[in-house]
Amino acid sequence: MMNDKRGRDGKRFDKKDKAPSGGKRVGQFILGEKTAGRKFGKPKPTTNTSKPANHKPKPKRTPPAPAAATSWEHVAPWYDHLVGDEGSDYHRHVLLPATLRLLAPKSTDRILDLCCGQGVLCRALAERAGSVVGVDVSPSLIAAARERTSAANVRFDVADARRLAVPDGEAFDAAACVMALHDVDDLAGLSRSLAAALKPGGRAVVVIMHPCFRVPRQSSWGWDDDRKTQYRRTDRYLTPMNIPIATHPGSAPDEHTRFFHRPLSAVLTALGDAGLATAACEELTGHRQSEPGPRARAENRARQEIPIFLAIGVVKLP
Ligand SMILES: C[S@@+](CC[C@H](N)C(=O)[O-])C[C@H]1O[C@@H](n2cnc3c(N)ncnc32)[C@H](O)[C@@H]1O
Repeated sequence: MMNDKRGRDGKRFDKKDKAPSGGKRVGQFILGEKTAGRKFGKPKPTTNTSKPANHKPKPKRTPPAPAAATSWEHVAPWYDHLVGDEGSDYHRHVLLPATLRLLAPKSTDRILDLCCGQGVLCRALAERAGSVVGVDVSPSLIAAARERTSAANVRFDVADARRLAVPDGEAFDAAACVMALHDVDDLAGLSRSLAAALKPGGRAVVVIMHPCFRVPRQSSWGWDDDRKTQYRRTDRYLTPMNIPIATHPGSAPDEHTRFFHRPLSAVLTALGDAGLATAACEELTGHRQSEPGPRARAENRARQEIPIFLAIGVVKLP
């Protein structure tokens, strides 16, 4: 029940209360667990520790959680326009069909869309699920999501996917995180949030750029003239990388988002460490076709052979 607000320790609390973990309450969710924002480092040297007998230490305050530097807030109007009501080209032809196929929503399911952007998946889920909650750290994208979505069974909240805590009794049957895992700096935190949001046995689908074949700045198509073959080359793969992506390279070269490349082993291990066991996997190819021409056949074949997205279905271990 949405009105029965309980913290992770099971205690009831009201909206005005501080979240029981010491974090800040945002919508249904709790941000900033006790360690959030705390700076770790070497302990201070213990030189003069003598204090007057009547000294009372000042109560320590939990610093507010730092805003997610990876939020797409600064590019929200552009992204909202790009995706529109029903999704970008890739959403409509590849990403949403694969997510819905793997998620297999039931009419009774309560589903979470983690890093929902402007809510394109939530709208697709609305008529297939019992209820849907979309969460993103960008207030402008959440505002756009609310504006674009009329279904009564869909709700949107601003929250940080790296430290999402869902009150007891409000866990989800299923969840999705589409094209966002590589946009968040804390993979372990996001994986834990996803797991914490699910009921035991709950399922989730994570869709990402295929880490083996699509590494921004480090992978590309090439043409082998001798073999008349289009090939894919990957120059770097195993090293995790934090890569800036220009959203408007021509008109606004400084405007960028961040992409966190990790090898497949790192992604599956983080999900597994969080208690999410891989249950299904689809390697997704692009849907586009080349214009007729001497290379068209080879280009189309390469597109059908080399997957550019990866969809991973996981189940929360009991
Ligand atoms: C490429 S967009 C994908 C959005 C949506 N899933 C879609 O398919 O359109 C990545 C999203 O991740 C969100 N994001 C980045 N860091 C986040 C965080 N720490 N917590 C929640 N959302 C975050 C961004 O604001 C952005 O909306």
